[in-house]
Amino acid sequence: MPPPEALTVLFPLDSIPDPGAREAVVDGPDGPLAIFVVRRGPTVRAFVNQCPHLGVPLNWKPDTFLDSQGRIIVCAMHGATFGIDDGLCDGGPCKGRSLRPLAVSLRNGSVAVGGT
Ligand code: FES
Repeated sequence: MPPPEALTVLFPLDSIPDPGAREAVVDGPDGPLAIFVVRRGPTVRAFVNQCPHLGVPLNWKPDTFLDSQGRIIVCAMHGATFGIDDGLCDGGPCKGRSLRPLAVSLRNGSVAVGGT
């Protein structure tokens, strides 16, 4: 499913723990699209919430995508690990594959996706 093309303002940056993540659903060209935004220091990234291993959501608990130290993204199903900066899987059953990134920006202190 391709990412949304329209700019969508989601929520204030300060509503995401640092480090931490927050889920959202945006309008995609084929219907609702589940995504998540990761914040870690100055880094903010957004990805489609779909593990490249089996195509299921990465999280079991709401807004829970990072390891206990907030350094990497972890799939709750089989433990695949992904870099926050690039979404590349560096360990687990989908090693070498990537999460699908979304264009992300800050608009007046809020996180926005799409719009490119
Ligand atoms: S579904 Fe994510 S690691 Fe298997």
